[in-house]
This record gives sequence, structure tokens and C-alpha cells, in this order.
Amino acid sequence: MPELIWLNGEVLPMSEARIGVEDRGFQFADGVYEVIRFYNGRPFTLRPHLERLERSAEGIVLKSPLARESLEAEIRKFIARASFKEGMIYLQLTRGAAPRNHIYSQLQTATLLFYARPLPPLPEPGDGEGVKLLVVPDDRWHRCWIKSIALLPNVLAKNLAASQGYDEAAFVDNGVLTECAASNLFAVVGKKLVTHPAGSRVLPGITRQVLFECAADLNIEIDERPIKEEEAQRSDELFITSTTREISWVARLNERYIGKARCGPMTIALHRALQARVRAEAY
Ligand code: PDD
Repeated sequence: MPELIWLNGEVLPMSEARIGVEDRGFQFADGVYEVIRFYNGRPFTLRPHLERLERSAEGIVLKSPLARESLEAEIRKFIARASFKEGMIYLQLTRGAAPRNHIYSQLQTATLLFYARPLPPLPEPGDGEGVKLLVVPDDRWHRCWIKSIALLPNVLAKNLAASQGYDEAAFVDNGVLTECAASNLFAVVGKKLVTHPAGSRVLPGITRQVLFECAADLNIEIDERPIKEEEAQRSDELFITSTTREISWVARLNERYIGKARCGPMTIALHRALQARVRAEAY
């Protein structure tokens, strides 16, 4: 079966999909996106993802051509048709094609597309080697709450990390760790879970939000505050979260091993709680 794509209301083989050369997503990175996980052929936290998409779109003065309920139904239908049950939806909304001009027209038709990709099974909570993070300067814009497709700083940071044998880049601004190139960052300090507030410097991750709920269930106190690099180095546990990876424990921040250099008990407990939510929603 050929790989399919949903493009502006039509489902067609990926190889036949065409986007205009003057699409503003291509020329100006004028667009927003979402990555949504599905398990067992069912999307996880679809509604919060679509709500964030709306907030991101509003943040760039763009309106989705499809109401949330219709988009939700289209995504569910698309996933049900996919030949695999474990994967992700990549969804992108751009301001559409028009003769190149920094000034956009309100009358322009947006480009909306999504497609599915399979994902391999994730390691069990606490398994695996642990992620190595390279600290890099945070030179991104200050509207990180918008899930913008303008990801060049993230792309460069992650490639720098990979070129030095690291798995992910952790952004640092004035000594404070904000988030990673494609994930949110959490530290366990004493009995508390510390993470930078979402907003200008940090994406409000959906996994981050689910984790807040898991933490509340487990009576773990959350401390939303900036965390300095040195404090993170000395933390008991460090982990990162995202839709595609759920939770990955961090083994090293630059050269420094974190905690006991193995996945800590709070990370494991939170990951189990997250997976219980996945099972409740998707199975
Ligand atoms: N990235 N911060 C950044 C900069 C991200 O790009 C992501 C996700 C997150 C975590 O958000 P969520 O829990 O909603 O996935 C935080 C996706 C997965 C990506 O770009 O592929």
C-alpha cells in the first residue's frame, strides 16, 4: 500500500502530493505544526494537541481552514486506515501559497496536511542507556510557546550534539536550562520535580502536561521555575519528555553523570503512570 497523505481535505499517495513553490511555509517558515502519537491505532491526547495547534496558529495570526471537531474526525479516520498501529501523525499548517511578499494577505488559503509514520516500540521505563545531553546556547526567539515550523536553531543544536556523540541538545540561557531541541527537560531535586515554566522560552509540551497530572496523582510536588545548569548537574534525576519518546532518563549533561548514573525511582514511577494513561486512553 502506498504511503498516504491528507492534503487540504484530500487523501492521496504521498508521491502525488504537491505544494506550491511559493507556499509561505517553504519560503518564510510561516506555519505551525504538531506531532501526535498513536498507540494501538488510536491517537493519544489528540484534543490537547489540537488545542495547542489552535493557540500556535493564533500566535502567528493564522486560522485553521478546518474546525477542530472536523480535523479530529479526519485524523481518527486517517489513523484507522494506516497499515500500522504504532506511530505518529505529523501535521503542518502554513499560510499557503501566494506571490512572495513579507506582508501576508488575510484572504489567502492556508495549507493543511498530515501523514502518519510508524514508530518502533519504546524501551520499558528505566531501560536503555540513558540520554546524553550537550548544553548549547539558547539563541531561539522568545515565542517558544508557538510550535513553529521555523526550527533551524533546534536543527543546528541537535546536529551539533549528534556530531559530538550526544543524543539531544539542552538549551541554556544566562546559565538557566530552558528545554531541549525537541523535548522538555525535568530535574528531580530532593523530592520535587523541577521544570522551567512554559511560555516565551519553553514549549508547553503535551507530555509535560500529562506528566503534571501523573505527578499530582503520585503526590509529587512540581516546582515550575528556572533551573541553573549547575543545579541540574547536581540533581538526583534528570529526564526529558516528548510525544515520540514519552520519557527518557538522562545519564549525562555534558561530561557530568547525573545522580547514580542510572534511571532514578521518580522517573520510573512517572513513566509507569504515563503509560497507564496511554493504556487507559488507547487500549
Ligand atoms: N517535539 N520542546 C520542543 C522544542 C519540542 O520540539 C517538543 C516536541 C517538546 C515536547 O512536546 P510534546 O510533549 O508536546 O511532544 C518540547 C516534537 C516531538 C518534534 O518536533 O518532533
